[in-house]
Amino acid sequence: MRPTFIEVSLENLRHNLQLIQKHTENRPVMAVVKSNAYGHGLIRVAKFYEELAVDCLGVALLEEGILLRKSGISLPIVVFGGVLTNQISEYLKWNLEFFLSSSENIRELERICEACEQQAVVHLKLDSGMGRVGCIAEDSAGFIEKAVFSKHIFVKGVCSHLACADDPEDPMTVEQLERFLDAVSVFERLGVRVPIRHLANSGGVLYFPQTHLDLVRPGILLYGVYPEPDSPHLLDVRPALQLKSQVSFHKSVPNGFTVSYGATWTSTKRAEIATVPLGYGDGYRRAFSNRGEVLIGGKRQAIVGRVCMDQFMVKSKNVRSEAGTEVLLIGEQDGQSITVEEMSAWAETIPYEILTNLNERIPRIYTNK
Ligand SMILES: Cc1ncc(COP(=O)(O)O)c(C=O)c1O
Repeated sequence: MRPTFIEVSLENLRHNLQLIQKHTENRPVMAVVKSNAYGHGLIRVAKFYEELAVDCLGVALLEEGILLRKSGISLPIVVFGGVLTNQISEYLKWNLEFFLSSSENIRELERICEACEQQAVVHLKLDSGMGRVGCIAEDSAGFIEKAVFSKHIFVKGVCSHLACADDPEDPMTVEQLERFLDAVSVFERLGVRVPIRHLANSGGVLYFPQTHLDLVRPGILLYGVYPEPDSPHLLDVRPALQLKSQVSFHKSVPNGFTVSYGATWTSTKRAEIATVPLGYGDGYRRAFSNRGEVLIGGKRQAIVGRVCMDQFMVKSKNVRSEAGTEVLLIGEQDGQSITVEEMSAWAETIPYEILTNLNERIPRIYTNK
């Protein structure tokens, strides 16, 4: 086994869920587990949320939904990505709910449902300002009416997605909420039951209580990470993921010694160089080259030279770093920590990308104290 692995703390996932439930006054939670549960491992994490009795799970792809069903998950699963007509029978077969974004495929949907003698369970997706998928909220009355009165469609929810909720100062979120609620008022005008209204991602959960409505859809916050490096820390969530490895090779190098591809780093005096056996082939970003840091013996050590596909080097200072020494890439070691938020700043990206890039090549282990 390689010495590199991800350790996921199920107790921290539980803690974060409980904090979110308390903060949202016990709103039902759709736990978002798309993209391999933000790098934490889809099946294990989904099963844990099922044990914790979340209300439903959210994924992006039909394949993710099928994988969850095949692994025995019986919770309601909602697939966010747009549904194509030729996929509808699979949604029905696997009992997956989905976002419906336009009335264009309703007729086809009806035909397929009729043939399978099944009802499709959908959440009407309204575009209140994200501009990605969904029926434009201002023009959605006809869409809502058509869906509600379709024989084989059960409108379980109506939803939208927030574009700027990670910034508590941005007025866009309140504008989106107003557009959404305005569109949703059509249900009352039609004299039909108002379905479950949901809007809040992690930013909405954190900073905009008025968006919590009937259910919340947190993703990154469940994993103990904030949406942006500088997002205000309102809830004491705990990061659930740690990334660990071991020094695979150690050497002392003289002044003027170059390290890694492109020889972008040269020692200016005698130095201790430790090789760490993971790289961008695992999702550990090449952008960390000559910028990032790791922890060895509770002390920060600088990455020197370019991160390679399977290995990278650090200059070890004031610490022993012979082969076999633990290297902490994400998480805590001896009271020091390296966070995903900090790493996203090194790579000029967002924490989401750091987490979801950590790929299947890294084994995951789970702790539950
Ligand atoms: C439709 C939808 N809802 C909720 C989420 C969760 O977002 P976050 O991870 O910011 O909480 C996502 C993720 O992008 C999403 O696409």
